[in-house]
Amino acid sequence: MTGLAADEHLVLVGLMGSGKTTVSRLAATRLGRTLVDSDALIEARTGRTVREIWATDGEPAFRALETAALVEALACSEPLVIAAAGGVVLGADNRRALKAARARVVWLCASTSTLVGRVRSGGHRPLLDGDPEAALTRMAADREAFYREVADACVSTDGRSPSEVLEAVLR
Ligand code: S3P
Repeated sequence: MTGLAADEHLVLVGLMGSGKTTVSRLAATRLGRTLVDSDALIEARTGRTVREIWATDGEPAFRALETAALVEALACSEPLVIAAAGGVVLGADNRRALKAARARVVWLCASTSTLVGRVRSGGHRPLLDGDPEAALTRMAADREAFYREVADACVSTDGRSPSEVLEAVLR
């Protein structure tokens, strides 16, 4: 990946626990950009938590809101740092939107054991209720090809600190 252009969004994708939130905060500070986190945008637009939406309306309703949040963020004329929720690559429309946008998409990847060591379940992550390791193993198998499809670059986060990951992302 060559350098990020001044008018391109930087979008971080990856599974839960890959470090999107932490690294996107560092990236936004470093680049002097606004950070948009798609889960936070959904919560702001609906006035409800991800968990409430999931429990009351179900996953498909949540996924529709996720698409709307992604489209809204990508349409912003100001170049952003976008932390896209882990499941955003599931929708073919979302993948098309990511590829069509004026954006660089970086996939933060990590081994399942790294992800399991990092994630906190509860909160906005109903898919990790129960057995996070089994869930993350299944999601890695289901989603890896999709992350690869949308990504301009893949950065391994195994054994790297957030600032080391940021440097790799910016390279
Ligand atoms: C999800 C990831 C979560 C959140 C929801 C579903 C997923 O976001 O959107 O729990 O399907 O991978 P983070 O990746 O920001 O934790």
